Amino acid sequence: MLRNLEPYGFDLLARVDPKVRERCLDIATGPGEPAMSLARMVGPDGKVVGIDLSEQMVELATRVASQRRIPSVEFRTMDAEKMDFPDESFDLAVSRFGFQIFTNPEAVARETYRVLAPKGRIGVAIWSTAEKASAIHAVVGPMLEFAEPDETGYLPTPYELGGPGEMMKLLEAAGFHEAKEGRKTHTMSFKDADDYIETFVEGTPLGHSIREEDPDIQGKILARTRENLREWRTRNGIRIPCECVIATAAIGLNRQRPPPGGRRMRIGWERAASGEIRTRRCFWSSGGCRRIRMRPCSPTGSPRRPPPTCGTRSS
Ligand SMILES: C[S@@+](CC[C@H](N)C(=O)[O-])C[C@H]1O[C@@H](n2cnc3c(N)ncnc32)[C@H](O)[C@@H]1O
Repeated sequence: MLRNLEPYGFDLLARVDPKVRERCLDIATGPGEPAMSLARMVGPDGKVVGIDLSEQMVELATRVASQRRIPSVEFRTMDAEKMDFPDESFDLAVSRFGFQIFTNPEAVARETYRVLAPKGRIGVAIWSTAEKASAIHAVVGPMLEFAEPDETGYLPTPYELGGPGEMMKLLEAAGFHEAKEGRKTHTMSFKDADDYIETFVEGTPLGHSIREEDPDIQGKILARTRENLREWRTRNGIRIPCECVIATAAIGLNRQRPPPGGRRMRIGWERAASGEIRTRRCFWSSGGCRRIRMRPCSPTGSPRRPPPTCGTRSS
């Protein structure tokens, strides 16, 4: 799988243009990319930290970096929603295929904003939508068709933020400026359907979800996946396209920081006359409404991120 992901990592790094001596953060680094490629680009006087929630991933990334003798890279087990770094620790933050699986991607974007220096920038790669991310949808389609939703009736997909402008909006809501979005398609290669299934089921978080299903559901998912793959068979194996979104943004000149003494903030929601929840407002405790996030909230929201009740709460 890592071989198939490489071109997306190159596109991401080309967009953020890492410089020698920069301090970089790779969020949800998994087995260590793009952190290791970044480390080669910033050189021995730069610094790269890759973080991941999974201790096993961090151990694997550390082992591979040491085998490859890559200097200036370090891996740490850490929740991206609550980073253990002081403010303004990095010049550049990247994440390859992390944002669409975070439970709270908004919190990760806010944390990234906090740990970036004043001229800092961010680059994020995520999968596009179902119809454009064929290589992923060949298995996710059958999962959506046959798997049991959780108790909220919700089935997470890897396309959470892949719609037009969605990732840019999320970054802007966290305070970032100059958000831009581009799309890139690469062709993934697999020897045959068995190779595809082994790669996805054994080597990605999707496999974990499939293995949680009853054996007969698992059988149906895999049979339908094989059917879907027929369309992409060639004489040289399976060749299947997959589009990704690359979003970039910068801190900008007018960074807004919470007042000293803590990040005390009240969040209020405004309801339009129709009853629809329109905007979220953030009030810093030092007084006044310092920031208005024009992040539209759907009245129903996603069950994973339930709709706020009208009013205010402390955070
Ligand atoms: C699809 S993998 C991407 C790995 C790598 N960046 C790559 O492109 O190969 C997503 C990773 O996100 C990690 N992850 C999920 N939630 C996280 C969180 N809250 N904080 C840090 N890492 C997280 C998972 O452990 C997993 O390794």
